[in-house]
Amino acid sequence: MKRTAIVTGGFGGIGLAIIRQFLIDGYEVIAADIREPASLPGEYADISGKFHSVKVDVSSFDSCMKMKDELGERGFEAIDIIVNNAGITRDSLIAKMGFDQWDSVIKVDLYSMFNVTKQFVNGMIERKFGRIINTSSISREGNIGQCNYSAAKAGVVGFTKALARELARYGITSNAVSPGLVNTEILSSIPQNIMEALIKKIPAGRLARPDEVASLVSFLASENAAYISGEVININGDFMF
Ligand SMILES: NC(=O)c1ccc[n+]([C@@H]2O[C@H](COP(=O)([O-])OP(=O)(O)OC[C@H]3O[C@@H](n4cnc5c(N)ncnc54)[C@H](O)[C@@H]3O)[C@@H](O)[C@H]2O)c1
Repeated sequence: MKRTAIVTGGFGGIGLAIIRQFLIDGYEVIAADIREPASLPGEYADISGKFHSVKVDVSSFDSCMKMKDELGERGFEAIDIIVNNAGITRDSLIAKMGFDQWDSVIKVDLYSMFNVTKQFVNGMIERKFGRIINTSSISREGNIGQCNYSAAKAGVVGFTKALARELARYGITSNAVSPGLVNTEILSSIPQNIMEALIKKIPAGRLARPDEVASLVSFLASENAAYISGEVININGDFMF
């Protein structure tokens, strides 16, 4: 059956890997990102047939409503799979954290869950099918320098579980993936010496690859995962902060 998926933060490291995997899985895929819409990088050319993109600021409900309208005009009435993956970090100890650092992370990483899901969830309820996959983080348990990010990513878990309870009767699942350290741009603000020390603490001895997260998301989006809902699945090489 033809399914359409939207992946927020679709031009980031994990987002692009999910898009690549979803294209292989045979979905129509929409990358929703604050970056200017673009075509897929050259290495994806072989599988780019069903790829689309749209510009959105997921921290803004208004922007997400406009995105839904634009997608409707472009013929995307039914979204079957939502991957709420866009996220940012603005790390700082609480003693030095400014309101903007708090506010921007809560809005991009947590408000986005509601802003995006709300646009498409009624359609899923009507069609009695849906997969909602939200990106949390091991930081949800609390990490130094990340009061903002930890609060947002813990909030993602509460949102995911409440949604699962509400939507199970409609054939809609809601799960969170909770990565450890994944080798993407978002880690670039961590100084090299701290990163080396962190990697030594990972039992698996290395960072995760984005495609490893994408494999998990792909399974949760599949028909075979119909009876898994309300779960938070760690993908962290057995590492916690
Ligand atoms: N990389 C890691 O180690 C790691 C670990 C745990 C969780 N995560 C989470 O995984 C998700 C993806 O992260 P990544 O590692 O691919 O990071 P990334 O920086 O490579 O990608 C993030 C993407 O989100 C987009 N984005 C940022 N603000 C946005 C906004 N307001 N509206 C729409 N799009 C926006 C960016 O343009 C970018 O394309 C994030 O939610 C992140 O918190 C990452």
